[in-house]
Amino acid sequence: MWINREVDRVRVRTPAKVNLFLEVVGRRPDGYHDLATLMVTVGLHDSLEFRGNETGEIRLECDQPGLSTGSDNLVWRAADLLRKRHGVATGVDIQLRKRIPMAAGLAGGSSDAAATLAGLNRLWELGLETNQLASLGAELGSDVAFFFHGPSAWCTGRGEIVEPLKLGRPLDFVLVCPSVGLSTAGVFRALRLPETPVDGACLRQAVEAGEIVDLGKRLFNRLEEPAMELCPEVARWRERLAQLEPAGVLMSGSGSTVFALARDAADALRLARALTSEREVGDQARVLVVRSCD
Ligand code: C5P
Repeated sequence: MWINREVDRVRVRTPAKVNLFLEVVGRRPDGYHDLATLMVTVGLHDSLEFRGNETGEIRLECDQPGLSTGSDNLVWRAADLLRKRHGVATGVDIQLRKRIPMAAGLAGGSSDAAATLAGLNRLWELGLETNQLASLGAELGSDVAFFFHGPSAWCTGRGEIVEPLKLGRPLDFVLVCPSVGLSTAGVFRALRLPETPVDGACLRQAVEAGEIVDLGKRLFNRLEEPAMELCPEVARWRERLAQLEPAGVLMSGSGSTVFALARDAADALRLARALTSEREVGDQARVLVVRSCD
């Protein structure tokens, strides 16, 4: 996350994430699930700008007409939570420029919420520490806290217990974001819990050692199966990417984005070119070449 304070405003650029591993360990009494997941931020960002106003209101504008800018938007809720907890009376004008596809398993909404907490902490000079911001974030969504501890981490609990880790080398990906999104709650509802959860220790080692070939073979996401049942596009793109023989292929989060792990940056371009040369791709999906954040 990149934050810049100017005289009368704060600007924040905040990244998307992909999951290289996601196992659902069990169902919790609070209705959520315990997870073990490895998340990596990538070079695909939303931008937010915050300016104080005298109306006492939170006013959100967004360049995506399809996205609500009311009190159900996670950015609005993050601003409201921070104001209530810290007795802030002034209002704020927020401009959100979306580049991260929505309902895509890339945590764009969570990343925007984290950016809002961090940006308003600066604008209102609240002086909150990263850990305080992360625990406020966890109240808003399971993967908001991750964005305070990135660029990469092993996350457990609902996703909010974050243990940062270091990539052995930068990772290059091709993201395929189908035009249809998936609801996270819907995918979790369709999930059948595993009797024996898959252990992510070897994958984590491969990530930390930068062993691309080994990592590619170990990519795993428990939510793929229910997501593919709900959204055949996920299965179709997964198969198409696999035909191009990258190091590995996986769905991110609860979908609908499917990604290829490339062997290096040149391999990522090869994969993207092969996909975009097919005429129908442009109507059905966005293809993005991204690298892990430092
Ligand atoms: O926490 P977040 O709002 O991102 O979660 C969206 C939905 O995904 C939850 O309402 C829940 O149905 C499901 N979920 C879950 N277990 C998690 C994270 C999310 O069941 N660890």
